[in-house]
Amino acid sequence: MAIDDKIKEARDAFEKDAATVPVEQLKSKYLGREGVVRDLFALLKTVPPAEKGAAGQALNTFKGDLEKRVEELAKTRVAATSKSAIDLTLPGRAPELGRRHPIYKTWDEIARVFTKLGFDIVYGPEIETEENNFEALNIPMDHPARDGFDTFYIEAPYLVRSHTSPVQIRTMKQRKPPIRVIAPGKVFRPDKPDAGHSPMFHQIEGLIVAPGITFAHLKGVIDLFAKSMWGERTNIRFRPSFFPFTEPSAEVDVSCFICGAKGCPVCKGSGWVEIMGSGMVHPKVLQNCGIDAEANTGFAFGMGVERITMLKYGIPDIRRFYENHFAFLRQF
Ligand code: DAH
Repeated sequence: MAIDDKIKEARDAFEKDAATVPVEQLKSKYLGREGVVRDLFALLKTVPPAEKGAAGQALNTFKGDLEKRVEELAKTRVAATSKSAIDLTLPGRAPELGRRHPIYKTWDEIARVFTKLGFDIVYGPEIETEENNFEALNIPMDHPARDGFDTFYIEAPYLVRSHTSPVQIRTMKQRKPPIRVIAPGKVFRPDKPDAGHSPMFHQIEGLIVAPGITFAHLKGVIDLFAKSMWGERTNIRFRPSFFPFTEPSAEVDVSCFICGAKGCPVCKGSGWVEIMGSGMVHPKVLQNCGIDAEANTGFAFGMGVERITMLKYGIPDIRRFYENHFAFLRQF
């Protein structure tokens, strides 16, 4: 049999084996030290001298082809095994659904009540000036009230806002009465974290300025807010207080929405829980923003979103909100 026929025979045999024989065995069977290709080369000495050159070339080509095929097979086998490593019969893995953080759920709820009443939502920056955070709010440099607002100072005149009240200032400088806004946002104070303190927390500020606004409007709006948040039977009460930017000022309590004002640990048996500070905007504050304080009056309020959320769900420690434990966050 001519060497060409032998090569053809070996080629066919190889292809047949290729379907079933593992690549390593295939390689040694055909290309190994005692492999088929070597045996074919051994036959060269039986080939007549005139045909030796051509036969040698044919054998080299054949050897090269086989080497290429072995390499190809090795590659496709790897791909095939990794494909078969996927078990199509396994049940699917459901992707974890994210959910709104409890703080932002409360934020949304509060915002919804006020937007229904016609309030716009406005935002201010977390980096503020001393002017907006203090001076314009009638809290002068040497005033002891500043001690009550411990503040992260950056380089003068900048600081990290310690309340959302500076957004009142920004709004009144930009808009003319009638003004009706709420300003939710993050605020910062250098407090050591404990059950009741966090160096960052959230507040929602409210502000109305227009001719003829009275304390009765403040009461009406807060009463509506409290009833929308906690139900028709909710009552509110105002206790006299002091803030430099409002005169008169008041703290607002609502009848305890946990126990229905019967007395429980959340309201400490009193039936009332404090939810915000409020008051009539101080005429000086209006003037500081270029608003005619003879023609206009206004009221403002500010509440802590963490506090309201803690009261709502009976969460005893503010730090829970920032630890990102799924077991905690999944409950809301
Ligand atoms: N800014 C006050 C605080 O951080 C909260 C506050 C009280 C805001 C009375 C007001 C207000 O607008 O009228 O404690």
